[in-house]
Amino acid sequence: KGRLVIAVDGPAASGKGTLARRLAAHYAMPYLDTGLLYRMVARAVLEAGHDIRDAEAAGAIVSTFDESAFAEDSLRGREIGEAASVVAAMPAVRSGLIARQRRFAAQSGGAVLDGRDIGTVICPQARAKLFVTATPEVRAARRHKELAGRGEAATFEGILADIRRRDARDSGRSDAPLKAADDAVILDTSALTIEEAVAKAIAIVDARR
Ligand code: C5P
Repeated sequence: KGRLVIAVDGPAASGKGTLARRLAAHYAMPYLDTGLLYRMVARAVLEAGHDIRDAEAAGAIVSTFDESAFAEDSLRGREIGEAASVVAAMPAVRSGLIARQRRFAAQSGGAVLDGRDIGTVICPQARAKLFVTATPEVRAARRHKELAGRGEAATFEGILADIRRRDARDSGRSDAPLKAADDAVILDTSALTIEEAVAKAIAIVDARR
């Protein structure tokens, strides 16, 4: 049996990041949160003073930006997630990020990657694919709690509207839209605790190892 690559995809605030991190710890494999790459590009576009919809500027930035220049915490906010989904719809941005994601996945000990298109585009050969979902209301409630913990004030209604808009943009784009790969296992976490979701995810991966 060859290397284990685990692809974890799903919409915003579905719990995929937590699950991917827990799977990486369980199997002692490196983990890449690919959403952070899109967030870094968005941040770099804004910091350079460009309009977030400027695809030419974003395409130029994606080939030169320095990943070590960003503090993860500064990328987790609400606005930057929204901006990330705008640049993520640009083909030049997506294609510019493919090689580094595939290099990460190719490590000899295997890897866990989470995002929107890991199972469909980045690692179509991944041995284990999970598509993590939850209702928009459950995701909004989780994000609300997370943002409150960061001291970012936002109403539940506002966050729910953000999530619906981001879902529509991520699912509706023509390049690598958010969707489950044909061979992904769908894990709906709406009614699960984190521990229950982790146990299910491990069982799904073990069945594919
Ligand atoms: O997962 P996260 O919320 O950090 O992702 C931010 C945005 O980056 C998403 O809304 C999506 O538009 C984009 N993204 C993507 N493909 C990935 C990961 C993230 O398009 N593999």
